[in-house]
Amino acid sequence: MTQPNLDWHNLGFQYIKTDQRYVSSWRDGAWDSGTLTEDHLVHISEGSTALHYGQQCFEGLKAYRCQDGSINLFRPDQNAARMQRSCARLLMPPVPTEMFIEACRQVVLANERFIPPYGSGGALYLRPYLIGVGDNIGVRTAPEFRFSVFCTPVGSYFKGGLTPANFIVSSYDRAAPNGTGAAKVGGNYAASLLPGQEAKNQHFADCIYLDPATHTKIEEVGAANFLAITRDGRRLVTPKSPSILESITKFSLLDIARDRLGLEVEQGDVLIDGLDAYSEAGACGTAAVITPIGGIQHGEKFHVFYSETEVGPVMRALYDELTGIQYGDRPAPAGWIVKVK
Ligand code: PLP
Ligand code: COI
Repeated sequence: MTQPNLDWHNLGFQYIKTDQRYVSSWRDGAWDSGTLTEDHLVHISEGSTALHYGQQCFEGLKAYRCQDGSINLFRPDQNAARMQRSCARLLMPPVPTEMFIEACRQVVLANERFIPPYGSGGALYLRPYLIGVGDNIGVRTAPEFRFSVFCTPVGSYFKGGLTPANFIVSSYDRAAPNGTGAAKVGGNYAASLLPGQEAKNQHFADCIYLDPATHTKIEEVGAANFLAITRDGRRLVTPKSPSILESITKFSLLDIARDRLGLEVEQGDVLIDGLDAYSEAGACGTAAVITPIGGIQHGEKFHVFYSETEVGPVMRALYDELTGIQYGDRPAPAGWIVKVK
């Protein structure tokens, strides 16, 4: 296996073309048996619904190289289930869980040389996606669909490792109250590009969205869920809303906080004018892992949490436990790890 010439310790979050990707097509009511291909280009009808009407969804999960050389996937069944929910919302044929996990396995094994080494802090990011394709012009569901999984080696999405980042509250909405916010569909991310760019222009890592109905409660970050720790250090609170993406990392952290750190956990309201109730906050997701939040700009006010530059004890403990499970250094709850090798 020739090793790619990559700076494994400083990968960031960028597209690096890898060797093989999985592709399966849906025609006449069924998925075909799927295949790996070296071709990273997609040749589809100009009338494809994915191009005009946003009929597409995607997922994000990682493969981790462990100290003993084995390879872990973290909760791929949860990504499969979420993609099935996204498909239902956009009238697309779901990919069965077994097929989804098998596609991920094949892609990881075919691109093993791109898995960042244990200890580098990196992982192989898998991007499953499903698009409506085929000749069409009216606003209707596509005649054919294409499911693919590709991968790219990544490091940190925000700052390096466990480093606090600052965020700004956006005046835009990411999703409507009964819209597609809970589905992992491209339209939500298209809507987040301008707010995200405006945040970055002001030197923030990304923006935080408030609930679209009242603009009083935190919903989530552009590409991650939000969590906070109460001042007494005993309770983890995370927003509950029908318009946020159901983060697999977030639900994993709720379990870890309750079962391993002895915290109370709550899904409820996090008021943007009530941040003084919390000593620590973080953004969590597959790409973000846990990014501690140093401060949040809201209008004229900049709210600082534990410290703008240092990591609070609970965020650190959550990060250590989560990444310990993912890289195989700490015991995983039943069913959380699928060994690829
Ligand atoms: N929220 C949004 C908008 C995201 O894009 C992501 C990334 O997947 C998350 C939350 C975190 O979800 P997960 O932990 O399943 O990666
Ligand atoms: C992820 O964490 O997997 C995401 O999807 C975030 C982003 C890159 C869209």
